[in-house]
Amino acid sequence: MGVSCHATDCMANYFFNKIVVNGGMFCEAQHCFWKVSIMNVISLLAGVVLKLSYHFVQKSLIRLSVLGIFGSVLLTASSLAAQTAPARMHFDVDAKVFRLDGGDVTYVLGVNGEGQVQTLYWGKHLPEAEHFDAARPSQGNASFDPPVTTTPHEYVGWGGALYVQPDLKITFPDGNRDLVLKYVSNKVGDGELAIMMKDISREVYVTLQYQMDPETGILRRSAEVENRTGAPFTIEQVASGTWNLPRGTDYRLHYVTGRWAGEWHLQEQPVHGGMTVLESRRGTTGSQNNPWFMIDHAITKDQDEGSVWFGALGWSGSWQIAVEQDALQQVRVTGGPNAFDFSYLVKKGDRFQTPYFYGGYSSHGVGDASRLLHRFEVDSLLPHAPTPKLRPVLYNSWEATEFRVDEPGQVALAEKAATLGVERFVMDDGWFGQRKDDHAGLGDWYVNPQKFPNGLKPLINKVHSLGMEFGLWVEPEMVNPDSDLYRKHPDWVLNFSGRPQTEGRNQLVLNLARPDVHAYVLQWLDKLLTENDISFIKWDYNRNWAEPGWPAVPVGEQKNVYVDFTRNFYDILEQMRKKHPNTEFESCSGGGSRVDLGVMHLTDEVWPSDNTDAYDRQFIQEGFTYAYTPGVMMAWVTDSPNWVNHRTLSLDYRFLSAMQGSLGIGANLNNWKPEDFATAKQMVATYKGIRETVQRGSLYRLMSPREGEATVTESVSRDGKQAVTFAFLHSSTQNYPFPRIYLRGLDENAVYDLKAISGKLSPGTPAFASGAYLMNFGVDVDLRGDFQAMAFTLSRR
Ligand code: DGJ
Repeated sequence: MGVSCHATDCMANYFFNKIVVNGGMFCEAQHCFWKVSIMNVISLLAGVVLKLSYHFVQKSLIRLSVLGIFGSVLLTASSLAAQTAPARMHFDVDAKVFRLDGGDVTYVLGVNGEGQVQTLYWGKHLPEAEHFDAARPSQGNASFDPPVTTTPHEYVGWGGALYVQPDLKITFPDGNRDLVLKYVSNKVGDGELAIMMKDISREVYVTLQYQMDPETGILRRSAEVENRTGAPFTIEQVASGTWNLPRGTDYRLHYVTGRWAGEWHLQEQPVHGGMTVLESRRGTTGSQNNPWFMIDHAITKDQDEGSVWFGALGWSGSWQIAVEQDALQQVRVTGGPNAFDFSYLVKKGDRFQTPYFYGGYSSHGVGDASRLLHRFEVDSLLPHAPTPKLRPVLYNSWEATEFRVDEPGQVALAEKAATLGVERFVMDDGWFGQRKDDHAGLGDWYVNPQKFPNGLKPLINKVHSLGMEFGLWVEPEMVNPDSDLYRKHPDWVLNFSGRPQTEGRNQLVLNLARPDVHAYVLQWLDKLLTENDISFIKWDYNRNWAEPGWPAVPVGEQKNVYVDFTRNFYDILEQMRKKHPNTEFESCSGGGSRVDLGVMHLTDEVWPSDNTDAYDRQFIQEGFTYAYTPGVMMAWVTDSPNWVNHRTLSLDYRFLSAMQGSLGIGANLNNWKPEDFATAKQMVATYKGIRETVQRGSLYRLMSPREGEATVTESVSRDGKQAVTFAFLHSSTQNYPFPRIYLRGLDENAVYDLKAISGKLSPGTPAFASGAYLMNFGVDVDLRGDFQAMAFTLSRR
């Protein structure tokens, strides 16, 4: 739009001290000189009006729709704004205070007299007219914790007397390791705020980048480190940024831990003095910790009450989130690539861009915080956001056949799956190279001629003729030592020369950071997708790193592997998506080991766990949905007794558990009886009628499997017309009835029809009731015994 400014004696101050910046306007501050033409002023004012109307309409959209001509003028302006409007930004030139507003959140940062960039506020939306004083240096605590250590830095270099977690630590070629970053300038435009900092003497520039999602108030942060020193330097620690919470002593940290087949365990612990480190040192995300956190006040008991600050990293390599309470009881959360065994050589003139660190706030508890994350993922992060495709019902052959795949066997399963209403048939591991079990074949991506003498085409054609899409399993980053690829290129794996190589599942990790490995994977994957009509790739990754050496490059660059591997992984996904836009991807990683906002930006769904026991899944799925949307959470109905716990569960229970996410079937259909087919067919049809609500709606966790004998979830569709409730009873005891279900998220004044879609509502339950009744009087369901399940819908009249 052409408003450009350089601040300090800024002409905008002539009008008012605060500048509201809209998308397209561009401001460059510090030594300010506004070139404001009449047109600029007009566009500035127009921007203010547009913003006000956008704000107004967001709050009163329903009223506006009946406002007649005046209303429709505003509505047009606001719908335009709603489609394109970035978050609102204010910049107080004199005080050097930057303010970002989105959703119900306000984030304010400022530059103090020392040139340090501080967090001033992160929390519930404040009136736009609110005044913020300029940032001030912190007081410190005696001589032991000087101000530099207690100042709530947005981003701090390791230098001076800094004792808290630094965001950036650099070693220069002369051995100097002191880095003191000070504010230089800023840019505001296109919904982005960029703040440039520089070391006090060396030509090291760091640009802090901020972009706020206007709908949810989720802020995306990242930092770019630029080397203008004329010589290379080594980054030894680098974060995307630090989140500072308001001072407090009663904080509680939520995070997830896990292990294979036992992922997504929710943990809660008080935030005490000192540091809690969540991390992966495994080369990739890992299921032992997930790069996500929430912090609320310990006294809050209800899912939908109280302040919550949350964040998640968009990074699929080794990562770290450090939660630290400092000497002044301030809580800071610093996250980015893990500094353990890490370094990155930045050559002269080069830049290093950190991954994104997303952060948000809700004043309505962890339930709402999860819903904000879900909405953000669906509307802004997933491929094809804001309209990612609903997940098709899929069938996967893994648990039925394991590695014993061949054309007749897969055709037989596909024929049966098609009768159920399955929309996508996926052939899993075992179709390539000399793959009979997990000892051989990985790396050799040609179709096994004994199993598929005529290639994949006959099977793919058959699947298509049955009205389904075809999907295929791959594991591109791995190699079995017993493979042609390894025999030809033993140097392609991660390794330290002359040292043993630790195998996991009889496989080694290819060093994807190497240009030749990167090119090899690109080449065979592209060929596979070009030659075959494949709608879906299940991208697996079944072990973590060991001996993470890269002997082929100079010593000073060998640790670049931690970043370059992940960047190349992303690059392959990006290139494949561009070249094969009709192919979808799943991030699998043995279940749950590579689920993060980085990979989710490039994949359409994720596999949360290899554990398909429908009761264990209640815990797994609950933990998963704290951070990630059910719209990408694949859940299969598999055989009973289940292979994990040998637990026997009814087919209804298994279906209802899987229908809480994105439904798949992974049972051996060859063993099913006619009544199983009948039940499954009906469940699949039912699921298709509720999947939009489950995958896109607002999720309420009404009863947690961690807290008693019952699990209940409710999803309310975006348009409010449908709600779906799933109820699971683990075990009846002492003749107690199932706890009453109090619904949430309904319109008090609307009337809803109740309908059991599986199992029974209690006798006497009204056929219809108001939202107020359903949320306050509640609903009783008829569940008794062990491992019982039912589900019902509410349809708004
Ligand atoms: C692990 C995955 O999570 C399973 O679903 C299956 O694809 C196997 N790998 C195949 O090896």
